[in-house]
Amino acid sequence: MAHVTPSDLTSLLGGITLQGVYKQLRQHEAAPRSLSNRRRWVEPADVRRLLEGRDFTYPHLNIAFQIVKGGTGKTSLAYALATRASHYGVRVLAIDFDQQGNLTRSFNVDARERPVWLHVVRDRLDPRECIIEVSETLHLLPSNLNNSRLDIEVTSRASNLRDMLRDKLETIRSSYDLVVMDCPPAINKMNTAVTCGADLIIIPVNPDPYAIDGLDFTLAELDRIKVEFKVRFDHQVVWNRYDARERLGMVYMHELAKSPTRAAHLLPVVIRTDTSVKNAIFQAKSVFDLPKRSAIQDDIDQFTREILGLNQWKEDKQAGVA
Ligand SMILES: Nc1ncnc2c1ncn2[C@@H]1O[C@H](COP(=O)(O)OP(=O)(O)O)[C@@H](O)[C@H]1O
Ligand SMILES: [Mg+2]
Repeated sequence: MAHVTPSDLTSLLGGITLQGVYKQLRQHEAAPRSLSNRRRWVEPADVRRLLEGRDFTYPHLNIAFQIVKGGTGKTSLAYALATRASHYGVRVLAIDFDQQGNLTRSFNVDARERPVWLHVVRDRLDPRECIIEVSETLHLLPSNLNNSRLDIEVTSRASNLRDMLRDKLETIRSSYDLVVMDCPPAINKMNTAVTCGADLIIIPVNPDPYAIDGLDFTLAELDRIKVEFKVRFDHQVVWNRYDARERLGMVYMHELAKSPTRAAHLLPVVIRTDTSVKNAIFQAKSVFDLPKRSAIQDDIDQFTREILGLNQWKEDKQAGVA
């Protein structure tokens, strides 16, 4: 599996040569692994040692991907973030709440016979019983069609939506830095419970008018949840499937940025349309495992750095703040 490369680290650490990265790795008693003479990568645990040695604090966040519109990239970006963050040595739990189980399948996991979140809610199953280890730093709580009953169960139990997620995750939460949650495109009780238990909601939008409608609808719902349940969480909007050749893409982007409340929450990264997303799914791999370096690897890397706070950390370091 591909990971963070020594040259990724030179760009992240800034003002340091490749030799400098090797030297720092040696100081942490680590060495890059090689796939071939030309492709080297650094173990997640070694990336972590290196970054923590430079005073980077790994975040502790529950992140949910939500928007009522389907097909904007919730699952693809949840998968991308979970995978890429794990390359950086972040301990990730990915939770699939969508009965379609697309996130589960992205990890090449067949969970048809596995316990899922429905069993956590209905049968009080310990979430540990559901979790599958995808890699050392990446665990998955999968989904399957059983979760179609989830909302009925949550409703019939008159559950405490506000605290449900944090309560259910309590026994395992300290084992992870990030909990990355993929949700179905719906306004329902379970999504409300996920929102209440999230620190950050990421809303992927595409450059088309329907996605912007979906965004406004979702933002209104998030505001409603904040008021009704007296909870606090942040939200960020990310452009996905951007294609510079489509002139209208730019038009919709300007449209979105015109509203100051929307613009304030727009992540400063754009994820381009790239056929390697589909190629990777077809091969049951991450785009980082494909032999050719693609534009989307850079976009996902930037997206992940932004969410982890690595870009801000780099800026602060360069400005001498940290
Ligand atoms: N940046 C991208 N480039 C190319 N295809 C993409 C990109 N993002 C998503 N897709 C494709 O778009 C489709 C819908 O994405 P998905 O993540 O399943 O959306 P959602 O979970 O919001 O319904 C999938 O077939 C996925 O492979
Ligand atoms: Mg999806």
